[in-house]
Amino acid sequence: MTDPIIIRLARGEELVDLRHKVLRAGLPREEGIFPADDLPTTLHAGAFVGGRNVGCATMMREAYHGRPAYRLRGMAVDRDFHRRGIGKQLLDLLEVRVRQTGHTNFLWCNARTPAVPFYKSMGWRIVSEEFDIPTAGPHFVMIKEMEPRTSADTRR
Ligand SMILES: CC(C)(COP(=O)(O)OP(=O)(O)OC[C@H]1O[C@@H](n2cnc3c(N)ncnc32)[C@H](O)[C@@H]1OP(=O)(O)O)[C@@H](O)C(=O)NCCC(=O)NCCS
Repeated sequence: MTDPIIIRLARGEELVDLRHKVLRAGLPREEGIFPADDLPTTLHAGAFVGGRNVGCATMMREAYHGRPAYRLRGMAVDRDFHRRGIGKQLLDLLEVRVRQTGHTNFLWCNARTPAVPFYKSMGWRIVSEEFDIPTAGPHFVMIKEMEPRTSADTRR
């Protein structure tokens, strides 16, 4: 029997190996660690199959042009698990948790160009020209203004 996919909040250290594998391949493992990982305001979500981490996403408090915001970083799903809704479920969970902080409804990220269709499907939009990040390739800045809290939030 195949193990179920568990989507849950996580600790940053549970996600470092997957971040490294998918987003920082060929670089030192430390590149998969973010300075804000252990801040109390940082939120991590992970997908786990039989204890193995197969999906990860992190939201950290980082203002956007002076506006209170959460920044999405470390969004990755193991290649063997793409297009099964894992990325969507990770973002859905983190959006609820960000709204629950009461800090902001505004999200932003530097989105890799190949991931833009994924973010668009989740209601994000492009707000920059395409730009290059050395070692990671072409990106766009994308933002999402979330709906205010709903009653569904309290059930998660
Ligand atoms: C981007 C990424 C996280 C998406 O994760 P995923 O679990 O495969 O995405 P989901 O299955 O939740 O996709 C949700 C929707 O996004 C859209 N989508 C996802 N991947 C897509 C792709 N490659 N092309 C077009 N649309 C895509 C689809 O609308 C999809 O819904 P559908 O499968 O019902 O059509 C994953 O492809 C990945 O890890 N890529 C490599 C690392 C990366 O680029 N990360 C982003 C860094 S900014």
